[in-house]
Amino acid sequence: MIQYTGSVYRPPSEANSLILQATLGCSYNKCTFCAMYREKDFRVRPLAELKQEIAWAAENLGPVRKVFLADGDALVAKASFLADLLREIKSALPGLKRVSCYASPQALQIRKVEEMEQLRELGLTQYYLGIESGHDQVLRDLEKGVDAHEMVRVANKAHAAGVKLSTMILLGAGGRALSREHAIESARVASAINPRFLSTLVMTPVDGTPLWDSAERGEVDELSPVELAAELREFISHLDLKGTIFRSNHASNYLTLAGNFPRDKGAMLAALDGVLSDPDKAPFRPKWVRGL
Ligand SMILES: C[S@@+](CC[C@H](N)C(=O)[O-])C[C@H]1O[C@@H](n2cnc3c(N)ncnc32)[C@H](O)[C@@H]1O
Ligand code: SF4
Repeated sequence: MIQYTGSVYRPPSEANSLILQATLGCSYNKCTFCAMYREKDFRVRPLAELKQEIAWAAENLGPVRKVFLADGDALVAKASFLADLLREIKSALPGLKRVSCYASPQALQIRKVEEMEQLRELGLTQYYLGIESGHDQVLRDLEKGVDAHEMVRVANKAHAAGVKLSTMILLGAGGRALSREHAIESARVASAINPRFLSTLVMTPVDGTPLWDSAERGEVDELSPVELAAELREFISHLDLKGTIFRSNHASNYLTLAGNFPRDKGAMLAALDGVLSDPDKAPFRPKWVRGL
């Protein structure tokens, strides 16, 4: 059996993956908006436990094509531990196509390019990275722990190791006052990184976080769906990407948009212009269907 501890989060594109909790919690756990691992103390799980779960999966699940290593920043675990885990996954699951995990900026600071290269050769070929914003003030307010320059540097370490990146930007993270600058700077940073996948999420105050407390005090201006669409338009118009797949399919979004850069940039901007010129007819998802 697989014994999951606490709530388990995974990106939308890992819906069909086998989720293994290589680590529990998040070693950083300070981002003001993130409630996901606040109740958990960070720890690396014993390899012996994981081996049992992998053996169970090999015996009881159909062919496993994709594995996602949870929790919030599994890449921060020792490279030797991750290498042993990947060897076990590879030998037990013959149909395996790829392994991926979340990689916080802090984990990317710690990991050497050579380590990431070795892990990539063992199957860990994709990381999910929350850029959240390319605006230094917004990154400071979110307590992301790095500025925009450092975000680009650590993302490029992953690329130097041949690892694909799937990156997230948080719409609304600059509030109303910094909406435009947040969009422009986030596009600048995303373009400098040129990830294989790029997605937007809508920053949502969640109980138990500093962001929630600020929202309760009336200090957070949450953007309306139309304001978020305008911010998304600004963001997309400033993106200069090659070979990037864009999605706003995460449950937190009001608008679902998808396309490949550079080919579909014009079509996505035209779709957003349509929304902004006649918001009453726009296909916004109602607030109650949204989630995290
Ligand atoms: C589980 S976190 C892992 C990310 C990884 N640890 C990192 O920092 O790069 C995945 C992503 O969920 C999104 N997220 C977390 N809390 C959120 C919230 N309250 N509102 C919107 N998006 C949120 C952020 O984009 C975050 O990067
Ligand atoms: S966003 Fe990532 S690094 Fe920040 S607290 Fe959440 S899981 Fe940890």
